[in-house]
Amino acid sequence: MAVVPTREILDRAFAERYGVAAINIVNDLSMEAVLAAAVQERAPVIVQTSVKTVKSIGLDLLFAMWRELTAGIDVPVALHLDHCPEREVITDCLRKGWNSVLFDASRLPVQENQRQTVDVVKEAHALGAHVEGEIESITGVEDGVGSDEEAERQTLETALTFIRTTGVDVFAPAIGNAHGRYKAAPKLDAQRVTDIVEAEPIPIALHGGTGMSDEQFADLIARGCAKVNISTALKVTFMQSNLAYLRDAEQRDSWDPPSLFTHVRGDVLGMAAGFMRQFGSAGKAW
Ligand code: 13P
Repeated sequence: MAVVPTREILDRAFAERYGVAAINIVNDLSMEAVLAAAVQERAPVIVQTSVKTVKSIGLDLLFAMWRELTAGIDVPVALHLDHCPEREVITDCLRKGWNSVLFDASRLPVQENQRQTVDVVKEAHALGAHVEGEIESITGVEDGVGSDEEAERQTLETALTFIRTTGVDVFAPAIGNAHGRYKAAPKLDAQRVTDIVEAEPIPIALHGGTGMSDEQFADLIARGCAKVNISTALKVTFMQSNLAYLRDAEQRDSWDPPSLFTHVRGDVLGMAAGFMRQFGSAGKAW
């Protein structure tokens, strides 16, 4: 397999009730390491980019990296734009070739969010791409997007109307999850996932994956969370791996950048592979 539509990856995961790791990368090294983990584990994977990453690296260079790094890859992979409130960036990424986008209009009133999401779905589907939608902001700031205030939860009826009216391919409900590090073990409303999926069988995106327990992952994936988002864990692994290596390099007074890159790549690969095994997607490549 190779680069495939996001929906193809998620529909299989949803039907078989395993979770696909959707991992936010920050540069070429982390993108390559996550893809290498997918190849090693024979796992489908979704590589995610925040708007901040798109802007810091540049759309063209980021997509060129993706094209080069996935050329000839033999596991199913897709490129996804994470939380994007900026309509122009959505269009730019869709036209460039991103496989899916999360149009994050959760700060708008639901009616307006719904109206704009209908448009985004039309635009994406015309290009063979897919759309994740949300009606409540996920708590926490992720790469400059979001708020630490917990958003008001909408009713089940509102969520179902949003899904049916917009035709989104993936839905991301707020269930007590949050981006960043949890200060206390999160209390998650798993029943909300079941309620949505029973009324409208659509793959659910689980945000705020970093810090959830094995039991929470297993339970939520069994209920229909086919896409499991991980960002903070990669950032922490990436930074701590650099720090550990550089501290040691300082001790040894030895300064060889490629050795640093190899070390960090190994740690990021190991982290990503661990999530793939944990979510049950290892061995599921077709
Ligand atoms: P974490 O940063 O908590 O892993 O959440 C990731 C996420 O949901 C990205 O949208």
